[in-house]
Amino acid sequence: MRFFVVQLNINILMAAKTIIITGGAGFIGSHVVRLFTKKYPDYQIINLDKLTYAGNLTNLSDIDKLPNYTFEKGDIVDAAYVDALFDKYKPDGVIHLAAESHVDRSITDPMSFVMTNVVGTVNLLNAAKKTWHGNYEGKLFYHVSTDEVYGELHNPEEFFLEDTSYDPRSPYSASKASSDHFVRAYHNTYGMPMVLSNCSNNYGPNHFPEKLIPLMINNIKNKKPLPVYGKGENVRDWLYVIDHARAIDNIFHAGKNGETYNIGGNNEWTNIALVHLLCDLMDSKLGNEVGKSRELITYVTDRAGHDLRYAIDASKLMNEIDWKPSVTFEEGLAKTVDWYLNNWSWIENITSGDYANYYNEMYAQR
Ligand code: NAD
Ligand code: TYD
Repeated sequence: MRFFVVQLNINILMAAKTIIITGGAGFIGSHVVRLFTKKYPDYQIINLDKLTYAGNLTNLSDIDKLPNYTFEKGDIVDAAYVDALFDKYKPDGVIHLAAESHVDRSITDPMSFVMTNVVGTVNLLNAAKKTWHGNYEGKLFYHVSTDEVYGELHNPEEFFLEDTSYDPRSPYSASKASSDHFVRAYHNTYGMPMVLSNCSNNYGPNHFPEKLIPLMINNIKNKKPLPVYGKGENVRDWLYVIDHARAIDNIFHAGKNGETYNIGGNNEWTNIALVHLLCDLMDSKLGNEVGKSRELITYVTDRAGHDLRYAIDASKLMNEIDWKPSVTFEEGLAKTVDWYLNNWSWIENITSGDYANYYNEMYAQR
């Protein structure tokens, strides 16, 4: 009987965790919040999100009543706010996804990327350091980053590895690279327990329609021009967002302290081949004449400093931690198109421009 009581306490201690997930109302963050709240009912999940234009609480409407989920609206750039939030919840873990994430916006407004991606990350590190106070047992800071920090590839035989030198070439990737350096510096200097992952381009439900795949889906449905930058020859390595969330779960629980893991689907597409695929898929789903949507393709001025090719080698993650993508690209893309067509009001609310006001007002009234 005595043994049973001791065993029970150990289980409770092991099971109970409070995790702050930043950026949980965004594209990838919402899938991470859903996975963690549903899979780990003993964890308390705190979603810290500023609800910028990219944050959308409807992404979480199916789980927001769960007893282990709490939403906190706040800005990671505000150090006093972040300190107070950490003091309130005393988290065991942080999974940090909040960021300005769109390369084109970083070209027109680099400073907002410096503020959120660099200053915001350092504020979170400082708050975790103060809260944990050198007592790092059972604590973890997980920083979610991008393959774009490695720069661009030219040789088709080359892939990004965890020890590939950093060579960020856009204000977005420079800000993410800087945040990665700060996380590693806090590990080296203060002993902060951390893991970091660099993932390739994600696609899937809830992707904000300024990014390539949802923008094309929206424009195909509305018979608007499909803007392909330059000649459409740039290559991206696409991963289904739920597989990214699964990788984050596995790395959070089984990653080694101080290590970096690359995440990718080994799934390279030139932009133009991908747009052709999407046009054909949408034509078949919408019952359009074969080849109809391809007529909408319009080549436009290239993005400044447009990286040619990204391609991830994820073998460290696959070999050292049990993970592999759960869907093929064809399956994932079909699921994605179906999700958008079945949830068209989600995209309409965004493009009509009124959802941000609506959600901010709704939250203020609570
Ligand atoms: P997103 O733009 O869809 O969402 C970002 C979220 O962060 C939003 O909910 C926004 O409201 C929130 N946010 C922004 N600034 C904030 C601030 N100052 N304080 C608090 N919250 C703030 O981004 P995403 O595509 O889901 O990307 C999430 C993370 O994953 C980012 O760190 C990004 O660099 C990384 N990543 C993205 C991809 C991709 O293909 N989208 C690939 C690899 C890595
Ligand atoms: P994007 O979705 O913005 O992701 P990232 O720049 O982080 O890779 O763009 C994916 C690719 O698609 C990139 O090579 C730029 C290109 N692109 C277009 O050709 N047209 C568009 O309208 C957009 C948004 C992107």
